[in-house]
Amino acid sequence: MELPKIGMGTFGSDKYSASIVAGAVKCALDSGYRLFDCASVYGNEGEIGEVFNAAFAKGRAKRMDIFIMSKLWNDSHGRVAESCEKSISDLKADYLDVYFMHWPFPNTHAAGCGGNSRDENSRPFIKEEFLSVWSEMEKLKKRGLVREIALSNMTVPKLEAVWDDMTTKPYALESELHPSFAQRELVALCAAKKVINIGYCPLGSPNRPQRDVAEGDIADTTMPQVTEIARSRGVSPAEICLAWAVNNGIIPIPFSSDPAHIACNLKAADIVLTPAEKELLLGADCGNRLIKGQVFLWAGSESWRDLWDEDGRLACWEETGGVWRKKQY
Ligand SMILES: NC(=O)c1ccc[n+]([C@@H]2O[C@H](COP(=O)([O-])OP(=O)(O)OC[C@H]3O[C@@H](n4cnc5c(N)ncnc54)[C@H](OP(=O)(O)O)[C@@H]3O)[C@@H](O)[C@H]2O)c1
Repeated sequence: MELPKIGMGTFGSDKYSASIVAGAVKCALDSGYRLFDCASVYGNEGEIGEVFNAAFAKGRAKRMDIFIMSKLWNDSHGRVAESCEKSISDLKADYLDVYFMHWPFPNTHAAGCGGNSRDENSRPFIKEEFLSVWSEMEKLKKRGLVREIALSNMTVPKLEAVWDDMTTKPYALESELHPSFAQRELVALCAAKKVINIGYCPLGSPNRPQRDVAEGDIADTTMPQVTEIARSRGVSPAEICLAWAVNNGIIPIPFSSDPAHIACNLKAADIVLTPAEKELLLGADCGNRLIKGQVFLWAGSESWRDLWDEDGRLACWEETGGVWRKKQY
């Protein structure tokens, strides 16, 4: 069975409680969603698992017809199997369809933290450490705990640096993707390598945590390119953002707690954009990264841009006395 064209996110953005998110998942399941993007760090897998369990028990859904995805949180790179088993058990899922490495480094942050929070143990991306976690993920697949293993928050240089060394290639890459942040090179690289592109924050995450809000951020749903097409088609700007993703071969995973939004978001899968509309939306792409990830910075890094290899090259970092320095390219 192929992945559905649109899935449902489950991150409560530090604002929606676990029970609200679980209620949204129930509504989505009943509205026809068949793909759910979960993660242990969202702190709601137990509540979502109760929803799945009830749906399976009452015959409203069959496990085999639903794609349940979860993610290994950054603080668990040393306990991959234990973490995966806990997500499976919490989600009452028997197995996971896709298991992601949430970020390609072990840097973490406290739930609900502010933008200036830093983890003193943070470190840059280190290829050998990444590959050792990936090889533990590969074992999950061999054990049948997960159908597929996947990545999130990668860049073109990082993906290229590790590609040949991964015995099992990633099934999917989950990245921030919306009209104003199209990451076209990354999306094209994945498509060429037959890695499925999954788009997070597909609506520009209007209720994202305060730590991810910065001066100059743009709201996709207010961009003229998006609103003009929405007006001419008589649909909402949110639906055009989702149609943008689907028409670019990306599976968006919007979250909503609102039954009306949940229903109309799924319908966006049927919108076929015209070449002129696609062209217009190209003009919305302006590098508007919203999840900058500054809370993951390490001692010696200068800005959140150090996380994203923006100059197209993978920096090498060397540690002396607890401080990291960029060594060479
Ligand atoms: N891999 C990663 O590192 C990563 C990072 C971030 C997110 N994610 C995943 O991606 C999912 C989606 O991202 P997100 O939740 O941050 O942002 P999003 O889906 O872009 O935006 C969600 C927000 O948009 C509103 N919304 C939804 N449908 C709408 C509609 N039709 N009209 C108007 N407003 C609408 C929702 O409010 P209402 O409740 O009022 O509808 C909700 O607050 C997450 O839930 C999570 O599963 C993954």
